Amino acid sequence: MSGMKIICRVKGVQLRRLWPQSRQFTSSTRPYATQTEESVGVEDKRLRMRAWQLNGYDGVEGLTLEMARIPPILRPSDVLVKVHAASVNPIDTVLIGGYGRPVLNIMRALGQLEQGIVDPNQTELPITGGRDFVGEVVGVGQRVRGISVGQRVLGVVSPQGQGSHAEFVVTPASNVCSLPDNVNTEEAASLPYTALTGWSAVVVSGMIPPGKALGKRVLILGAAGGVGSFLCQLLSVWGAQVTGVCSNDAMDLVASLGVEPLDYTDPSTKPMLTADKGYDLIINAAGKDDLEYLSALKPWMGASYVTLSPPLLTNIDQRGLAAGLIKSAREIACQNLTSLSEGRVYKWAFFMPNTRALSHITHLLATHMIRGVVDGVFPFSQTPQAYKHVLNGHARGKTVITLT
Ligand SMILES: NC(=O)c1ccc[n+]([C@@H]2O[C@H](COP(=O)([O-])OP(=O)(O)OC[C@H]3O[C@@H](n4cnc5c(N)ncnc54)[C@H](OP(=O)(O)O)[C@@H]3O)[C@@H](O)[C@H]2O)c1
Repeated sequence: MSGMKIICRVKGVQLRRLWPQSRQFTSSTRPYATQTEESVGVEDKRLRMRAWQLNGYDGVEGLTLEMARIPPILRPSDVLVKVHAASVNPIDTVLIGGYGRPVLNIMRALGQLEQGIVDPNQTELPITGGRDFVGEVVGVGQRVRGISVGQRVLGVVSPQGQGSHAEFVVTPASNVCSLPDNVNTEEAASLPYTALTGWSAVVVSGMIPPGKALGKRVLILGAAGGVGSFLCQLLSVWGAQVTGVCSNDAMDLVASLGVEPLDYTDPSTKPMLTADKGYDLIINAAGKDDLEYLSALKPWMGASYVTLSPPLLTNIDQRGLAAGLIKSAREIACQNLTSLSEGRVYKWAFFMPNTRALSHITHLLATHMIRGVVDGVFPFSQTPQAYKHVLNGHARGKTVITLT
């Protein structure tokens, strides 16, 4: 029989599992399946779970609650998690409309070539959104170390994978971190995706690692949103001097995060900042770029403006891979021709899974050095309303859905 043998442990039981290339369960899979049903407490004998899915790129109106198969553990480094809460990110609301589809399909194809398996957790359709979660580990692959069944964890799912807006999710063990019991579920679920995105902007693109932030002046555009509210706290804890730009009604929230708030609706704010010319780093977490803020950076000191809204995926969506890459390269090069001539650097940043960063962030959360800022909590049954809440904009922290 052609197929791929995977050994995994479910609730401490080690079982051999056969995943035939036909992708149909056979009688040889039943012992594993029976154990899983018992161990994860699923009454449905066909290993089904509830998941918010789309069978096309119809946006939020296309979201339906389906009975889907519980995702199998196919890679020995993966874990299966029973989801307790998950956040809704702006990316969820656009991926379901087809944003980034060509790139995500390439990433899925490359993953399958590399692993030599057809992974139903990484098919294009149906789509399940949800890039992060808090939950309980209910199954681990053979090579997983340091994470075990029964552990409470928080974690992320890569954008090409099936997401956490479902009762169960599979992700590499390197994408999860043990979560102490003293941390509130909704707060913790609000953080992983935005926090790793913010980390990537500051540490990877902005080149300010923990331990090097003391005294640095950082300007956060979009300080009241998901990424911004996390970065204000992280950089304050690291000893940076942070200014958070937000709208007038978010000033109290941003001040409560330990930073100086500034109101972008006040016409004097931007001229004051650009006249300052004293910032080491600017992070744009507000959506569309406003390049006038580049002038707020210290000139000729290696200071950077890092945007979380690069045009890369949009260019590839519109022009295809090669032409989209060329257009994007030209755009960043042209922008830097101008900004480098003034002694400032313009950079892009992207979400990146990062085990060490996740562990650092979880430690800060568990020791109450930072908190998850939660804008709204929706029951799982109201997931489409949670998406609409995010689509309405004006976020004050994160939107979270709960399954418990
Ligand atoms: N590149 C990546 O991999 C990646 C990953 C995650 C997120 N992102 C992007 O990064 C951005 C931030 O993400 P997020 O999850 O934090 O979004 P979010 O929660 O929607 O936050 C955006 C915040 O910006 C505020 N805002 C809007 N216009 C502003 C302005 N001119 N000045 C200052 N604040 C302004 C919004 O509130 P008001 O409208 O009330 O002012 C809101 O609080 C989004 O564009 C998102 O798509 C990129």
